[in-house]
Amino acid sequence: MLRLTMLPVDTVHDEYLFLRVLQIFELLFSLLVVDLEEVIASLTTGRARIAAARLDAATGTLHESRALWPLLATMQPEAFALFRQHTEGASAIQSRTYKLLESLCARPADARLNSLAYTSVPEIRARVRDGQVSLDEAFRAVQHSISAGSAGRVRQAMDRFADANLRWRRSHLGLATRTLGPEAAGTGNTSRLTYLAAIHHRPVFGGGG
Ligand code: HEM
Repeated sequence: MLRLTMLPVDTVHDEYLFLRVLQIFELLFSLLVVDLEEVIASLTTGRARIAAARLDAATGTLHESRALWPLLATMQPEAFALFRQHTEGASAIQSRTYKLLESLCARPADARLNSLAYTSVPEIRARVRDGQVSLDEAFRAVQHSISAGSAGRVRQAMDRFADANLRWRRSHLGLATRTLGPEAAGTGNTSRLTYLAAIHHRPVFGGGG
């Protein structure tokens, strides 16, 4: 299994580090997707406190992953440039799990849904267009029919989860900028780092981001 999950394109050792960190984050996104689906199911069946607790657990998982960024920052930009020569066209913008996670938080605005962000992941785009219910929508549907205390707990848990998400995006942008340099051409057909810089602060919930 270890061999099959490690298929580098170069001999430079930092590529191993990069691939493993990428895989750990992908796994993390999958776990968070399961958490969010449970949170949405709990909310829509009137178990708001359970929903809040599960969302806080997801936030905890996201916080625990923070240590991966300084680890990945030990990768030499020159090494990254070397192995990226052989992966033209591949980009984490094509990560289905990341976009599923994002769209389970809130329905993406039409502009984003029709941009490369979602046209790169057609299955997820189709799910959204078919009416996938996000946490943002589920909360808005029930917030006035549950007690103010429960609604407050869920809202606060959402704020904490959103903060952890924004922190992830800032760390990612920081490392991408350091590795590529502000003048570098973007990977995956987006222009440089402008894509990331333009989207990293958009709201996780309730902003049609
Ligand atoms: C030094 C390492 C990294 C660099 C230089 C980098 C660079 C970039 C760039 C430039 C983009 C914009 C799309 C594109 O042009 O390809 C992007 C998107 C993305 N990256 Fe990274 N990245 C790095 C590490 C990671 C890691 C470890 C993950 C974890 C899974 C990750 C996940 C993503 C995701 C999910 C997107 C899409 C974001 C969106 O569409 O909103 N990246 N990255």
